[in-house]
Amino acid sequence: MPLFDLRKKIENRSAKLAVIGLGYVGLPVAALFAKKGFRVVGVDIKQDRVDLINSGISPIEGKEPGLAELISEVAESGAFHATTDYKELSDAEVVLIDVETPVNADHIPEYQALRSAVKSLASILKNGVLVIVESTVMPGTVSNVILPILEEETGMVCNKDFYLGNCPERVMPGKLLHNLRKMSRVAGGGTRETAELMADLYSIVVEADVDTADWITAEIVKTAENTYRDVQIAFANEVALICEALGADVWRVRELVRKSPGREMLLPGAGVGGHCIPKDPWLLASSVRESDVPVRLIPAAREINSGMPDHIFNLLKNQMEDLNKKRILILGYAYLSDSDDARNSPSEELVKLIKNTGANIVIHDPFIKKYSGDMIEKAEHCDAVILMTAHSEYESIDLKQLKRVMQTPFIIDGRNILDRKHVINAGFELVRLGDTSRGEE
Ligand SMILES: NC(=O)c1ccc[n+]([C@@H]2O[C@H](COP(=O)([O-])OP(=O)(O)OC[C@H]3O[C@@H](n4cnc5c(N)ncnc54)[C@H](O)[C@@H]3O)[C@@H](O)[C@H]2O)c1
Repeated sequence: MPLFDLRKKIENRSAKLAVIGLGYVGLPVAALFAKKGFRVVGVDIKQDRVDLINSGISPIEGKEPGLAELISEVAESGAFHATTDYKELSDAEVVLIDVETPVNADHIPEYQALRSAVKSLASILKNGVLVIVESTVMPGTVSNVILPILEEETGMVCNKDFYLGNCPERVMPGKLLHNLRKMSRVAGGGTRETAELMADLYSIVVEADVDTADWITAEIVKTAENTYRDVQIAFANEVALICEALGADVWRVRELVRKSPGREMLLPGAGVGGHCIPKDPWLLASSVRESDVPVRLIPAAREINSGMPDHIFNLLKNQMEDLNKKRILILGYAYLSDSDDARNSPSEELVKLIKNTGANIVIHDPFIKKYSGDMIEKAEHCDAVILMTAHSEYESIDLKQLKRVMQTPFIIDGRNILDRKHVINAGFELVRLGDTSRGEE
């Protein structure tokens, strides 16, 4: 099908859309296009996920405004249907790819899911289909990995028999639908015509700019924007460590730095997690690993941020030299506030470190089933509470009750969500990340 005909089908919503990978990104994307009038089929390798979705239930827990209702609506109306069978994608005219794209222990892209998804797609790809990679990939991946698989496995030629592009997602757990609708996008196409058609498609769901580009630009923009964030957080964390060494309060320092024009300083914290920020900088850095570009800043930022759980562990050890048999409560296991997403969670790293000491670890997280429950009950006989995730529930902890049940009233606040005066007045010893001041100005 020529692009002109596909454009018409997209405009009148008669094009059938397919989404490969129904995770944090693919599921809301599929549901939103279905809501806009497209027939959408989503494929995932996880049968339980597919079954839940087809029964109208969102498998994503945590606060995700509007998502559960939207899934239920589009599944019930039949506009959106999930499957594990790629054959159901064989009449799709637009295919979006949203599978995970992690890096391995050497920080090199691990494309098992991506390659497998593209191969499965190639086995049913028909003439005239527009394939869009939404996953975040190492710059160069569309040209060097995806395009060759599609052409070699199908015998078809890109820009003639099928069309290919990269339009990275900018969602974030907790704001999935909001970001899908409100965040601008970069539509990177194999040709200008493909990019323009992609922009028209996304403009149906995106209420912000959809800029056109070539696909290498789109790939670099996505990995660079997440790398930017990682580097900025690393800067804040480094200043936090400096403040601790100098007897200062990074939270006050930050407040005052931000009064200087153009000096935005992000929040320091107990660590960076999630599927994206810990690996997207490596995707960007890996893209030039065979050239002589000296990539120095990106690994340094990664080292600082991935070292923050170790730092929290050291704060604990400074307080209690012998952790053997001590009981430690960790508040928050998800990497992000009010989310259930625990991928690459800093708490996971902290748990590994504490486990080696012989201490007993108790974990509370209101959004993760196996760690949910009554926080105060979990705090019983604890010698320390470590606040790792800024879940809103933790802002209003009943300090009186907490003190009553704990063995030793000691708190480490890794996210600065507790009011220092309240905590101290309630009789706790408090260690705040980035703050060794005496709390006076
Ligand atoms: N999570 C985020 O906040 C976010 C934001 C922007 C971009 N991204 C990017 O989007 C992509 C997807 O991320 P995610 O968070 O949705 O991941 P996810 O792990 O939540 O979802 C991926 C889904 O793909 C499925 N899958 C794996 N292999 C498959 C295959 N061969 N065929 C069909 N399905 C398959 C998995 O079962 C899983 O359900 C990644 O590249 C990520 O970097 C994620």
